[in-house]
Amino acid sequence: MNVLILGSGGREHTIAWRLSSDPTCTRVYIWPGNDGMEGEKIETLPDSFCRENFEEIIKNKKIHLVIPGAEKYLYEGISDWCRDLKLACFGPSSNASELEKSKLFSKKFMIESGIPTSRFVDFSDDFQNNFHKALSLTEEFKKPVIKISGPSLGKGVFVCSDSEEARSILGKLKDEPQPGMEEGILMEEGVTGKEVSLFYACSDEKYSYLGSAQDYKRVFDGDRGPNTGGMGAISPVPWVNDDFISKVSQKILEPTLKGMKKMDTPFVGILFLGLMVNEDEINLLEYNVRFGDPETQVLLPLIEGDLTNFILNCCSGNFSQELKFKKQTAVHVVKAAKGYPGLFGEEVEKGQLIKIQNNLLDKSKIIFSGVKKMKEGLVTNGGRVLGVTSWSKDRFEALQTCYESLEKVQFKGEHFRKDIGKNL
Ligand code: GLY
Repeated sequence: MNVLILGSGGREHTIAWRLSSDPTCTRVYIWPGNDGMEGEKIETLPDSFCRENFEEIIKNKKIHLVIPGAEKYLYEGISDWCRDLKLACFGPSSNASELEKSKLFSKKFMIESGIPTSRFVDFSDDFQNNFHKALSLTEEFKKPVIKISGPSLGKGVFVCSDSEEARSILGKLKDEPQPGMEEGILMEEGVTGKEVSLFYACSDEKYSYLGSAQDYKRVFDGDRGPNTGGMGAISPVPWVNDDFISKVSQKILEPTLKGMKKMDTPFVGILFLGLMVNEDEINLLEYNVRFGDPETQVLLPLIEGDLTNFILNCCSGNFSQELKFKKQTAVHVVKAAKGYPGLFGEEVEKGQLIKIQNNLLDKSKIIFSGVKKMKEGLVTNGGRVLGVTSWSKDRFEALQTCYESLEKVQFKGEHFRKDIGKNL
């Protein structure tokens, strides 16, 4: 079958690379993709995104399955378009995507559905009309987390160490409003513990576990600096056991799927739960309604069997075929451009030549995100430029292979974390 993947980053490159090895996958098209994604069976499509072009592609390329990578396609209604075309889409409807799109919607949904999560205040109105009242609310929480409610390209969450830092962030947001703030702003009580993400393929109230991952969101080693889209990831997380997975399924996943069905917005696609765990206490931090980036870069290489066929079956609610996982650890480290994550006006450098040695180590794969082909070769063209995924039966061997392979791919101004997967 022919598969269409929507998006242009490392997540989409990984999905394409992984599915292209499946017997049932004939060809993978990535729209728009990037210039680093070439491969056997993989083709990028240049047209600009709109419903008319989408329908043309579906017809001309004889697409059987659509996989939206980035959430923006879900918000546009890609899954609803596919439903009209009677085409399988591995992603929720635009209504069900509210779970991720609106931080206010999701927080209220968690509380109404009895899902464990921290308390919050919605200060959208206070923020717009009465900034000083919003500032005084920062005193309510020991470790405030400020969240922009609307879509913010992964840069709308500010984890503050105290109310002073929260006030400073609010001041910056007031002076320089960021995308997504028009839909509101909230503050919740920061919870401490170990952060982990669990991934499920869902169809209405049925689901199948896809794995665990730890993402490294802060830009610098030791979890310092501003949040990014993710600087690296590891899977599986060693302490995640069957008992933990079953608790999360019962306390969080099942009430979520039930709640969505009750609201007449049944959920189909990936549900990616961002969790904070403190001994026996599990708190849901956030929902994402699609594959994670860079979590996908470590989850998919560990899934055995025909994943394309599994996804197609999931879209029709058929989970007869169980997934099997390699007993290995996968790690991914991102190399970012100078200036990334580019908050508050800082420029992210582009146009640097990427030098790639052709002797990458075995069990490693370069995944491209922000790159572009020029006369001189591939150049940087985004914040997260590329990353390397490596895998092995031994976590430390996987890490060593990954960091050695990263040295073989270099560009001016690059920065990356040196502590991915080390302290778990
Ligand atoms: N790595 C976080 C995300 O994909 O949203």
